[in-house]
Amino acid sequence: MLIFKGITKNYKEPVLGPIDIDIKSKSFVSIIGASGSGKSTFLRIASGLISQSSGSISYKDNIKPKMGFVFQDSTLLPWRNVLDNILLPLELTKKINPESLEKSHNWLERVGLKGKGMSFPGELSGGQKMRVSIARAMVQGGNFLLLDEPFSALDEVTRRRLEDDLLEIWETNNITVLFVTHSVTQAVYLSQRVVVLSSGPGMLLEDLAIEKNFKDGFEETPQFLSQVRHLTNILKEEGGEI
Ligand SMILES: Nc1ncnc2c1ncn2[C@@H]1O[C@H](COP(=O)(O)OP(=O)(O)O)[C@@H](O)[C@H]1O
Ligand SMILES: [Mg+2]
Repeated sequence: MLIFKGITKNYKEPVLGPIDIDIKSKSFVSIIGASGSGKSTFLRIASGLISQSSGSISYKDNIKPKMGFVFQDSTLLPWRNVLDNILLPLELTKKINPESLEKSHNWLERVGLKGKGMSFPGELSGGQKMRVSIARAMVQGGNFLLLDEPFSALDEVTRRRLEDDLLEIWETNNITVLFVTHSVTQAVYLSQRVVVLSSGPGMLLEDLAIEKNFKDGFEETPQFLSQVRHLTNILKEEGGEI
C-alpha cells in the first residue's frame, strides 16, 4: 500500500494537488485527466523521479516498493541490442551477476520477443519497442509498475494485444500497476479503479471503482459503457484538451 498525503507540485505556478490517495498493493489503478492536468507529474513523484513540493508518501509497513517505469516513447538506447537494453537497469544498479542474462532472456520471452534479443531498436515495430520497454521495467523484479501513456502511439490492434499482455503480467507477477492514459475506454478496460484529475492544478475529481464481473466481452456490456460514459461526462464538464 502506498499512501499519498497532501501531494503538491509547483513550478512557476501550482500544477498539482493537493492530492490524497491510497494505492492498494496489487491493484491496477489508472489516472486520466486533460492534457496538462499533472498526470505525468504525479507519476514522476510516485516513482521518485522528481520530488513533490509538499506532502508525503508513505508505505505500509515502511516497505518501499521496487519500481519500474515505462514512458510513452519506449526510450530504448538505439546502439544497444534488445537484450542489452533489457539488461541496462541491472547494469546501472551494478546487479549484474550470472543470473542477469537469464533474467533478461526470461523477460524477453515473456513479452513475446524470443529470438529478437540481438535485434536493434531501429529494427523493431512500435509495439515491439514498447514490449522491450516493459521487459526492461520488470527485469529487476520490481513489484510496482508505473506506465505513462505507454500505448498511445500504437495502432488499435497492437494496442489491444499489449493491453492484454500487460494484464497478464500484472496478474501473474502480483504487482501493483499505476497507469496514466488519456483514453477513458482504455482506463475502464484495464483497471480496477480509475482516478480523474481536474485541469491544472490537478486535483482528484473522481475516484471510481470499476465494476467488472467478467473479462471476455466486458466492452460489450452495459456496465462497461455506462462507466465510460460517466467518466467521459466528468472530463467533458471539466473542459480542456484530452
Ligand atoms: N519541468 C517542468 N517545468 C515547468 N513546468 C512543468 C514541468 N513539467 C510539467 N510542467 C507543467 O505542469 C503541468 C502538468 O504537466 P504534466 O504533468 O506533464 O501533465 P499531463 O501529463 O497531465 O499532461 C503542465 O502545465 C506542464 O506545462
Ligand atoms: Mg503526460
